[in-house]
Formats: sequence, C-alpha cells, structure tokens
Amino acid sequence: MLSVKKVAESCVSNSKLERIPSKYMYLKNKSDEDSVILCDEEAQNITIPTIDFSHLISSNPTQRSKEIQHLGRACTDWGFFMLINHGVPETLREEVLRACKGFYDLPEEYKKQYEGGDIFAPIKCGTSFNANVEKTFLWRDYLKCHVHPHFHAPSNPQGFRETTEAYCKKSREVIGELLKGISISLGQEENYIHKVMNIESGFQMMVVNFYPRCPMPDQAMGLPPHSDHGLLTLLLQNELEGLQLLRNDMWIPIHPLPNSFIVNTGDHMEILTNGKYKSNIHRAIVNKNATRITIGTAHGPPLDAVVGPATELIGDDNPPAYRAIKYKDYMRLQQSKELDGKSCLGHVRISI
Ligand code: OGA
Ligand code: NI
Repeated sequence: MLSVKKVAESCVSNSKLERIPSKYMYLKNKSDEDSVILCDEEAQNITIPTIDFSHLISSNPTQRSKEIQHLGRACTDWGFFMLINHGVPETLREEVLRACKGFYDLPEEYKKQYEGGDIFAPIKCGTSFNANVEKTFLWRDYLKCHVHPHFHAPSNPQGFRETTEAYCKKSREVIGELLKGISISLGQEENYIHKVMNIESGFQMMVVNFYPRCPMPDQAMGLPPHSDHGLLTLLLQNELEGLQLLRNDMWIPIHPLPNSFIVNTGDHMEILTNGKYKSNIHRAIVNKNATRITIGTAHGPPLDAVVGPATELIGDDNPPAYRAIKYKDYMRLQQSKELDGKSCLGHVRISI
C-alpha cells in the first residue's frame, strides 16, 4: 500500500496538485460532528493539568502526597495531563525523534518488509489505521514495535534500535512511578497496580506516528477520535501540535510545554478502576506546514492477563461495571476494526 508520505510528496512535487486524493477525504463521525473546536483564544483558559514528576518521586512526604492528589484528580477529571521534570534527558528525546524521522526517510522497499503482517507482528509498518476495513484513509503512516517484555525494532537506520530501546526503557521507568502514584491515589499501597497487573512482565508497544504536511488539512484526519487501549500512554512529539481531546463536547487543542510529555489513561485503566479513572477520547489533526512525528508508548499488563475491575476497587455500592477480558483479545478487537471513539469499551461494559 502506498504510504501517505509518498502521497504527500507527489502532492507537493506537482504544484498544481494542491489537492489530496479523494480517498483521504475524511468522513466525519459522530463525535467529530457533535463537537466544536475551541479557537486558541478560548482554549487558552482550558488547559490539561500539569504534573511535576520530581514532586511525585520526592523524598519529602508532604510534597509527594500533594502531587499524588493532583495526579488522582487529573485522572478523574481529565484522563490527560502534561508531565514536567520527568528526568528523561532532552538529548534522548531529540535522538529518538531523529531516529524515527530517519526510519521514515529509508527507501519504501525497506519498510515494505514490515507491512501487511498479522496485527500481533512484533514490528509492523503501514498507513492509516486498518486500511483493510476503512472507508477512507487517514493522513498517517505508522510503525508499531513490541518493545517489552521482548524488544523488537528494525535494525535500520543505524542506531535506531539502540536509541529506541534506551527511550522505551526510560519511558517504562516514568510510567512505573506514575503507576505507583496512581495506586496510592486509589487508596492502595504503591506497588498495587504493579502487582495486580504484573507490570514487570507487562506489554509495551511503541507507536511512531508520521503525519506528513497536508495540502488540505481541514479535509483530512491524522488519527480519528479514539481512546487508547492500555493502562497509560506516554506521548512525545516533535515541535508541531495536532493533538486534541474531547471534553464537554468540545475539541480542546493541547499545547505541550517544551520538554514535557503528554500522558493519558487508557481503556484498561478504566476497566481496572471500575470507571473511576476513565479513558478519554482524543484525535490528531494534520497541518499544512511540516511533518509532525509523535511517539506513543502504550503500557499495559502482559498480553495474556485477564483484566476486570480490581477486587479492592469494587464493593456492594460499586458493583463491577465491566466484564473481564484478556488484554490480547481486547487489543485484537480494537486492531481489527476502524478506530471509533470508545466503541471497544462498549463490548465489555455491563449495562445496568
Ligand atoms: C495515539 C495518539 C496522538 C498524536 O497514537 O494513540 O493518540 O498526536 N496519538 O499523535
Ligand atoms: Ni491515542
């Protein structure tokens, strides 16, 4: 399948062709249509919470517990937050973005070897989300690698494996600390989620999103409205914006501070906490000026783990609202359809 990188290049090289092919014209779905986008001025007053990682790991108990409270509130009220002072070196962030750009600059023939495999192929390259079933294509190419418990990544370009491995390890450390804070915010001991979700052997996937510049950004879509499947996702992006989240029927553009990460709760956090910490719908729009690259690392339990609402987090007055499901089966469900809001969660939600 032709990559959107190539499609974009042919739009640019043929200057008369400042149009995108019609199969990339995005058909708005329900959550796009019902919602308004805030202009930047309005959106300035609405910002996602900021969590200071250095406070979360602080040896000062008062400072730590205050930040854990913020974290709990961010998860309850938003399902999204910006993470600052996270300790991941800026050089590593730059290197991994450069390595990912380098991967997309490789000849198409090289990338082709990773195309079209099973949805659980440890390295998978492609365009759109699931081009087999989509009516229209997304303005996005992707590379997905399984990076934990076993690390897989292409061996080209030179240094790609080493850099992404170092980055994914750092990302696990950050997520590990966040899960400790979240456990405490749920009234449990700090290793609670680590234990019940067996995080040490947990499944981690790296998704590199490549959104080339688009001559008709209003007509195309990078990633349509969706929630993420895992417990937590850590997102790094190059200097370009495009992520929006849905809140009170409004699309809110996210403006990450320099050197920050965006973190969001996924569907399995919602299932595990019996709906206390809900996943949030978001999407990625595209732009006219330059290529946007984002790297998401999705963190969850082992693929064979069966996840339902945690025993400690349900009770007579809070009965289970989700059926237990194997993590792998949930992922298969999401990967085999079009991306569509929180529709997968509908399969496990127990209607009362
Ligand atoms: C994702 C995602 C947002 C972005 O990969 O799940 O939501 O801005 N990415 O690329
Ligand atoms: Ni997402």
